[in-house]
Amino acid sequence: MKKHNPLLPLLLLIQLHFIFSFHSVLSHLLPIVHDQESNTTQRIHTYIVHVQKPKDADLLIDEELENWHKSFLPNTTLDSGEPRLVYSYHDTISGFAARLTKEEVKEMESMEGFIQAQPDEVLPLLTTYTPDFLGLSQRNGTWYDDGYGKGMVIGILDTGIDPTHPSFSDEGMPMPPVKWKGTCDSRVATCNNKIIGAAEFLRGKPVPTDIDDNGHGTHVASIAAGNFVDNIDVLGNAKGTADGMAPRAHLAIYKVCTKDGCADSDILAGIDQAISDRVDVLSVSIGIGSRPFYQDSIAIGSFAALRRKILTCAAAGNAGPSENSIANDAPWILTVGATTTDRRIKATLKLGNETELIEGETAYQGPITANLTMLPMAFPGYQGGNNNCLNDSFNGINVTGMLVLCLSGGDLSHIEKGMNVKKAGGAAMVVLNQEEQGLTTLAEAHVLPAIHVNYSNALKIISFFNSSLAKNSTAMGSIFFNGTQFGALSAPAVASFSSRGPSYNNGGILKPDILGPGVNILGAWPSKVGPESLGSSMTFNIQSGTSMAAAHVAGIAALIKSSIRRHRRYPSSIKSAIITSAKSLDREWKPITDEHNGNPSKISAMGAGQVNPSGASDPGLVYHLHTHYYVRYLCSLGYTDEQVRVITQYRVQCLRMRDFGPERLNYPSILVTLGIPSRKVIRRVVENVGEPKSIYYPQFELPEGVSVEVYPSRLEFSSQYEKQWYNVVLSISNSTILGRGDFAEGQLLWVSPRHVVRSPITIIFN
Ligand SMILES: *[C@@H]1O[C@H](CO)[C@@H](O)[C@H](O)[C@H]1NC(C)=O
Ligand SMILES: *[C@@H]1O[C@H](CO)[C@@H](O)[C@H](O)[C@H]1NC(C)=O
Ligand SMILES: *[C@@H]1O[C@H](CO)[C@@H](O)[C@H](O)[C@H]1NC(C)=O
Ligand SMILES: *[C@@H]1O[C@H](CO)[C@@H](O)[C@H](O)[C@H]1NC(C)=O
Ligand SMILES: *[C@@H]1O[C@H](CO)[C@@H](O)[C@H](O)[C@H]1NC(C)=O
Ligand SMILES: *[C@@H]1O[C@H](CO)[C@@H](O)[C@H](O)[C@H]1NC(C)=O
Ligand SMILES: *[C@@H]1O[C@H](CO)[C@@H](O)[C@H](O)[C@H]1NC(C)=O
Ligand SMILES: *[C@@H]1O[C@H](CO)[C@@H](O)[C@H](O)[C@H]1NC(C)=O
Ligand SMILES: *[C@@H]1O[C@H](CO)[C@@H](O)[C@H](O)[C@H]1NC(C)=O
Ligand SMILES: *[C@@H]1O[C@H](CO)[C@@H](O)[C@H](O)[C@H]1NC(C)=O
Ligand SMILES: *[C@@H]1O[C@H](CO)[C@@H](O)[C@H](O)[C@H]1NC(C)=O
Ligand SMILES: *[C@@H]1O[C@H](CO)[C@@H](O)[C@H](O)[C@H]1NC(C)=O
Repeated sequence: MKKHNPLLPLLLLIQLHFIFSFHSVLSHLLPIVHDQESNTTQRIHTYIVHVQKPKDADLLIDEELENWHKSFLPNTTLDSGEPRLVYSYHDTISGFAARLTKEEVKEMESMEGFIQAQPDEVLPLLTTYTPDFLGLSQRNGTWYDDGYGKGMVIGILDTGIDPTHPSFSDEGMPMPPVKWKGTCDSRVATCNNKIIGAAEFLRGKPVPTDIDDNGHGTHVASIAAGNFVDNIDVLGNAKGTADGMAPRAHLAIYKVCTKDGCADSDILAGIDQAISDRVDVLSVSIGIGSRPFYQDSIAIGSFAALRRKILTCAAAGNAGPSENSIANDAPWILTVGATTTDRRIKATLKLGNETELIEGETAYQGPITANLTMLPMAFPGYQGGNNNCLNDSFNGINVTGMLVLCLSGGDLSHIEKGMNVKKAGGAAMVVLNQEEQGLTTLAEAHVLPAIHVNYSNALKIISFFNSSLAKNSTAMGSIFFNGTQFGALSAPAVASFSSRGPSYNNGGILKPDILGPGVNILGAWPSKVGPESLGSSMTFNIQSGTSMAAAHVAGIAALIKSSIRRHRRYPSSIKSAIITSAKSLDREWKPITDEHNGNPSKISAMGAGQVNPSGASDPGLVYHLHTHYYVRYLCSLGYTDEQVRVITQYRVQCLRMRDFGPERLNYPSILVTLGIPSRKVIRRVVENVGEPKSIYYPQFELPEGVSVEVYPSRLEFSSQYEKQWYNVVLSISNSTILGRGDFAEGQLLWVSPRHVVRSPITIIFN
């Protein structure tokens, strides 16, 4: 890929929110705002332009390809003298990004070879303990056997990295693999044997001077592949050894985002580079809900990556608990939702003269010398002020010395709300969940004594405040700090903010695929956290979001890839192994809870369940899915030939394709629509990657009203890599139980003496 002059036009105005930022959960419904001033055709934007491949494209040198792309432009420079071409893409798309006016794009549409132009958009970005929690331990099992991901390269598309952080030391790291083609841009990072590649693609915006102007990139990189760092803590809590999921894997850093978000054109350029550098796994914690795939840079880029056998792990989004809020929903992506762990960094709130104690969380455990004394409480929202502590004015309420109640949600993080409270003279803060944040509480590095409580506790506190007010007495409260505790019940549980399926745009592929730890995750951080007066020399921070979950699974995918035989390292096989081995039960063997309401989680929130690294390294059977099936799948979504071509990069004639709907994709999970017709046959093919001689029997769990048959009634394998097909016949057996619009959920297990290969099933009735 060729880089061009970084001078840039104004980009489209987009609301941003990082996938990890829980606070913006309430504002997730913000649409992509297209340029509101575009009443003039004279305005220059960056457009991503898809064109046909030139003849013998594979033989062309970079310059020839670039010339082909330039031939579509009116001329090579703008009036200002800036070059029009922003990126000339190699692998991710057949096309380029360029600065153009609407009128110029219109003219281009009639040129031979033109396919589609799309204005660039800006997408939001969306551990000491998690290896243990996931059953990885230093001297035992998968982790050790797999050499902690040795030889693998994980590409991180994010805000960059703080390369000086001890998590990225190369102590104990092997040399980069021989296949590695990447280079190191010193503006992004100084490389070593841990960080072996660094590149920057920020044509879309001013380049920040900070090495990682947000912290998000540093944090997710440490989760995926941070090296071991002993004796760490966050403000004295969550003490232990920090390390990533694949501590011996290498990192390649593609800086495509700033704290303000990530442009589609930059994301495509980052993936382009990652493909030619030869990463093994891509970790993408960016996204904005579901878009048609031909307009979705992550879907398009990850499809190109797939063709080079690179698996993309991407965050499901933080727009839960709303249904249909899923992002990164293409079937070739491993889409990851977020769960809690059983670790809590606890605090306790005592209300006035009440004896009951209310539990919550915070990572900043107050002044070390004293527990807080009883303080008068203020609730600016209830008292007519801005209820979310969104600024430090509190509409005239004097909060000096008070314990201030703030609702969760709105455009500020909890930490920023705490800063407002502190600035206004408040002594402490209680963050109150609203209904949609449910039971998920965060342990954050606040700047003042604080406690974050769940929704049912929030209601108790508000009603206590209400009743005091009614009695004309001052509500009083105090916070106690209890430190780090393990063994919380109902763990893992789906975080309330984790985005939910089903997807509007993928035609009926079950998403998310999998869950990974994403609540209160400890990771590397480029700057100090908490109150200014504190801070240790090594900085770690606790963050929550599906970003953190995706980074965990990217690390695990690298572990799996390094552990299986070279010629079987297909992305679809790794993905299948991770999905079919997932756990749908929590640590108490109860169904995984949804923290939105405390009920058992639906498949639309949890997919197959919690990632299970040791199970995934020995899956027994895998559902392999050859890339060419996706072409038929794309046709079945009703896309035009040109729209399919944007993704596949070669000419497709959908009319000539046998109809091959989403239900027939050889996916490791099953989603079918029943009603008309009321009976469907689902065919799947499995490949034996376990013992050469093995026999699997099916087991079903399906709701009343649905009947199921499977043929054949057992799968008998006599050699490794042997393939067998089976049919599942699903039909409505009692139409009085299930009505139109109902969802039913179940599962199919293929069981051998050594393996259980589980596929979640969702049936939608129409
Ligand atoms: C629309 O165009 C006119 C004329 O160029 C300009 O005066 C006006 O400010 C524009 N409106 C917006 C919203 O940009
Ligand atoms: C490039 O094309 C634009 C639009 O056609 C025109 O205004 C401009 O003068 C041209 N610049 C050069 C250097 O030819
Ligand atoms: C290794 O794991 C097994 C079972 O998972 C356990 O019984 C054994 O104690 C573990 N050994 C070590 C050294 O942790
Ligand atoms: C707390 O004090 C109020 C009066 O200030 C009284 O009405 C209430 O009953 C007391 N509650 C308890 C649990 O003692
Ligand atoms: C909220 O947290 C408290 C701990 O203070 C817990 O006892 C309670 O069960 C939680 N609420 C729900 C609905 O689970
Ligand atoms: C807070 O109070 C509890 C119980 O009274 C005590 O165990 C704890 O050590 C105190 N914490 C601090 C920081 O003084
Ligand atoms: C603070 O927020 C309130 C409500 O959101 C708003 O009305 C007020 O103007 C804001 N004050 C400042 C100083 O921004
Ligand atoms: C707010 O309250 C504090 C303490 O009660 C007092 O010292 C301060 O003067 C008050 N500020 C205003 C602006 O009333
Ligand atoms: C508190 O009082 C307000 C205003 O009267 C009311 O809207 C709200 O429902 C009350 N909340 C609780 C939890 O009692
Ligand atoms: C509360 O106090 C105010 C002013 O002190 C008074 O006007 C009001 O009547 C009192 N209300 C009750 C319910 O006692
Ligand atoms: C937290 O500390 C308070 C005050 O010391 C104590 O009463 C409470 O039992 C503690 N809670 C937990 C869960 O440790
Ligand atoms: C269908 O379900 C209804 C409601 O549970 C039940 O009353 C009826 O007997 C069932 N019919 C058959 C054929 O099983």
